[in-house]
Amino acid sequence: MKNLMVTGGAGFIGSNFIRYVLDKAGFQGRIINVDKLTYAGNPESLADIAAKYGKRYVFVHADICDRAAMDKVFSEQEIDAVAHFAAESHVDRSILGPSEFIQTNIVGTFTLLEAARAAWKERQDVRFHHVSTDEVYGSLGDTGLFHEDTPYDPRSPYSASKASSDHLVMAYLHTYGLPVTLSNCSNNYGPYHFPEKLIPLMILNMQDGKPLPVYGDGRNVRDWLYVEDHASGIWAVMTKGKTGEKYNIGGESEKTNLEVVNTLCGEMAAATGKDKDFYKKLITYVKDRPGHDRRYAIDCSKIKRELGWKQSVSFEQGIRATIEWYLSHAKWVEGVKSGAYKTWIDKNYSER
Ligand code: NAD
Ligand code: TYD
Repeated sequence: MKNLMVTGGAGFIGSNFIRYVLDKAGFQGRIINVDKLTYAGNPESLADIAAKYGKRYVFVHADICDRAAMDKVFSEQEIDAVAHFAAESHVDRSILGPSEFIQTNIVGTFTLLEAARAAWKERQDVRFHHVSTDEVYGSLGDTGLFHEDTPYDPRSPYSASKASSDHLVMAYLHTYGLPVTLSNCSNNYGPYHFPEKLIPLMILNMQDGKPLPVYGDGRNVRDWLYVEDHASGIWAVMTKGKTGEKYNIGGESEKTNLEVVNTLCGEMAAATGKDKDFYKKLITYVKDRPGHDRRYAIDCSKIKRELGWKQSVSFEQGIRATIEWYLSHAKWVEGVKSGAYKTWIDKNYSER
């Protein structure tokens, strides 16, 4: 693997993945970050990486739905591996406006697959890795886990669009022999997370003394994984995983949303020298998300057993590190707050 194309590398997980691959995984090749820079894409997240790695880090401002642009990247940059992150990623936005999700997540993935198929016609020493979510499996009751062979049952426009892209990726393996791998991961959190998602939204609202909006009864369950552990899981699949296989990646750390918010309140109070219940007073129950999936929980024993991957950061350590990161990165936070985040929050929460 010499020239690795990362789509959506200016987003939350993509930027953490690029940082991990260059700083920690010992990758010696070049990274070509292809990103459209939607509201969720932030080149600031990789400004230090661009300065540090010079010609080994290339940024291409392009839309994955643009076939000509994708063909050009494959040929000019001599791409031999793809880590495909680019997507619309927020469930609430997919409920308010699904169109972009269909376009980027389905049509964009299709376009990228077509470009890869054309560029790699004669090659098997290449890899197309598709980054997906556990949300494609649907919603669990109080017990049970998502396994790699759990039937797909997506229930939001976001998860339906991701499920569709997963099916396309596997279809390109079976039909055209494209060397693909696929990973389905649980909820991530950590540095550079756009503050529309639960954890960074709560941290920033606490900083600003704003209400902490908990949907419904707050008892929906998610499995939380520190983002760098997701990056190392994807890297393990890309370097050691078997072509054509899919791997679940998860934190084995199930929490209700209320547990998450209470932990955040406690850790934020400790970090800012406030009374331990100071931030809990801000918790506000709001109208539930339509079709709100009740519980996600993932069986990640396959990647552990076959590729030797494991999580390295516990939920408590990860939450502390995340709070510390947001408190010490005021410039990044202000940049995000003054732009797209502000527009989204103002619109969304004024309508509740
Ligand atoms: P994000 O919203 O933070 O970032 C998405 C990135 O993709 C942004 O940089 C954006 O500019 C870019 N992008 C969007 N549309 C594009 C297009 N048409 N062309 C090129 N670039 C485009 O998302 P994230 O949370 O980092 O998620 C990355 C991937 O991981 C997604 O595929 C998502 O489905 C998957 N995933 C996310 C989670 C999670 O907890 N966030 C969990 C499992 C899987
Ligand atoms: P989110 O971070 O949007 O991720 P996903 O919907 O992909 O799991 O939400 C995580 C959980 O937190 C989900 O059950 C919805 C809930 N939630 C709130 O209660 N309040 C909020 O303001 C947000 C953004 C999410």
